[in-house]
Amino acid sequence: MNFKEMVGNKAAEFVKDGMVVGLGTGSTAYYMVEAVGKRVNEEGLSITGVTTSNRTADHAGKLGIPLKDINDIEKIDLTIDGADEISDDYQGIKGGGGAHLFEKMVANQSAEVIWIVDDSKLVHKLGAFPLPVEVVKFGCQQVFRLFEKKHMKPSFRKDDKGDLYLTDSGNYIIDLHLEEIDKPHELASWLDSLTGVVEHGLFLDCVTKVIVGTENGPEVKDVKR
Ligand code: 5RP
Repeated sequence: MNFKEMVGNKAAEFVKDGMVVGLGTGSTAYYMVEAVGKRVNEEGLSITGVTTSNRTADHAGKLGIPLKDINDIEKIDLTIDGADEISDDYQGIKGGGGAHLFEKMVANQSAEVIWIVDDSKLVHKLGAFPLPVEVVKFGCQQVFRLFEKKHMKPSFRKDDKGDLYLTDSGNYIIDLHLEEIDKPHELASWLDSLTGVVEHGLFLDCVTKVIVGTENGPEVKDVKR
């Protein structure tokens, strides 16, 4: 079993009957969705899923997980998602799969948030992974130039065909190749203040549990908030 499957299965154990569960996006979250689907079908686990991308909605729908639109629920009990980087103090970068806008909206509604990763995602400081910034198409070159002026090494994300990557909301993504982020909260506030920026991939003070895949099995770390 690979680490992604290991942590996906472990995370699915935290899902309880009657919960509203945020279902993340990505190759690790894929295994969690599989494992939750298995529990729904084999144990009769009764949950409502809220998905974070069209990809996850298709996957969960095919497995027969009952789903609701985020607009139609009052709260989410638990969200389980992957991450691209997690720092020593449990701050994160997400959006490598381009779904960070919906992922953040779902996480923000959630009482508990579990991130599932292998140990390659654990870093001392954030920033080696390019920070995704979702931007509206209108005026996106202006935002890009501002990032260039600030020496943030921006690049427009491309899809497999070499076209500009489009998010589920029809926006573009600019990845910032920062190498090291010294003050994530300051950077997040500045990005939040920019007109034309829809959402960035800094997920700060968000996660409540991290499950790491290791040679010795899944390690569950509780994060005090
Ligand atoms: C998608 C995400 C993913 O959770 C993140 O990119 C990790 O993906 P993977 O598990 O495939 O490495 O943020 O927007």
